[in-house]
Amino acid sequence: MNASKDIQPLIASLQQHGAGQARVALVLGSGLGLLAERIEKAKIVSYADIEGLPKSGVPGHAGRLVIGELGGVRVVAQQGRVHLYEGWSVFEVTRAVRAFAALGIDKLVLTNAAGGIARRFRPGTLMRITDHINMQGRQPLAREQRGAGSPWDAALGAALQQAADAAHVRLESGVYAGLLGPTYETPAEVRMLEWMGADAVGMSTVAEALAAHAAGVRVAGVSCITNLAAGISAGPLSHEEVMEVGRQTASDFCRLLEHAVPLLDRS
Ligand code: HPA
Repeated sequence: MNASKDIQPLIASLQQHGAGQARVALVLGSGLGLLAERIEKAKIVSYADIEGLPKSGVPGHAGRLVIGELGGVRVVAQQGRVHLYEGWSVFEVTRAVRAFAALGIDKLVLTNAAGGIARRFRPGTLMRITDHINMQGRQPLAREQRGAGSPWDAALGAALQQAADAAHVRLESGVYAGLLGPTYETPAEVRMLEWMGADAVGMSTVAEALAAHAAGVRVAGVSCITNLAAGISAGPLSHEEVMEVGRQTASDFCRLLEHAVPLLDRS
């Protein structure tokens, strides 16, 4: 598959909508879409009006692009993403971030809802992603694109941490394990992930980080721990709980990113 050809219509469409001037791209995960409302001078474009962007069927993923300013910096935010577990290919899942890269946007903030594995985490904890473990069985790179090392940018991570201090938001850090989903993990799987060194588990983000990094984009990420992972929490998990905690944490999450975007832009 030719990675650049499949995004040509999307690149043209994004350019038409003015996304090309953005300096930082954001992908907003489940329940975290509220940040889009903090974007000033916003132009909102439904995915239906953007050519070549796959549309999510998952509740909590609005399916719109918001182009505007956050903390005085031009941004483009994807409110809603598609997932491998919906049946989309790894190329479709990474189409938006590859198009952002092709437009020359060289910083990306990936956000998601995740289950907490680290015992220090509670529902509502925000975690800066320092690295990932890819358990999705897919990755978006061709052999000639394989880069060395982790896509997660240490300097951008430090900027996130600095922003958290300035915004008086508590920000933990840790390793994100990406699984295929859509089922939540079994307690045995969570014990395995803990043993492997994962601090949080989710069903997205990994392929986007790999594809963006391979395209020369610097990548940062924040997980909102919406629940303790299976076996660590007492009760069963639900998507409603994930959405609700996402909403409750929204004010901290929004403050963090409003402070972070200008720092990321300058990093
Ligand atoms: N597991 C996987 N993905 C998730 C979880 C979880 O516990 N919570 C939110 N997304």
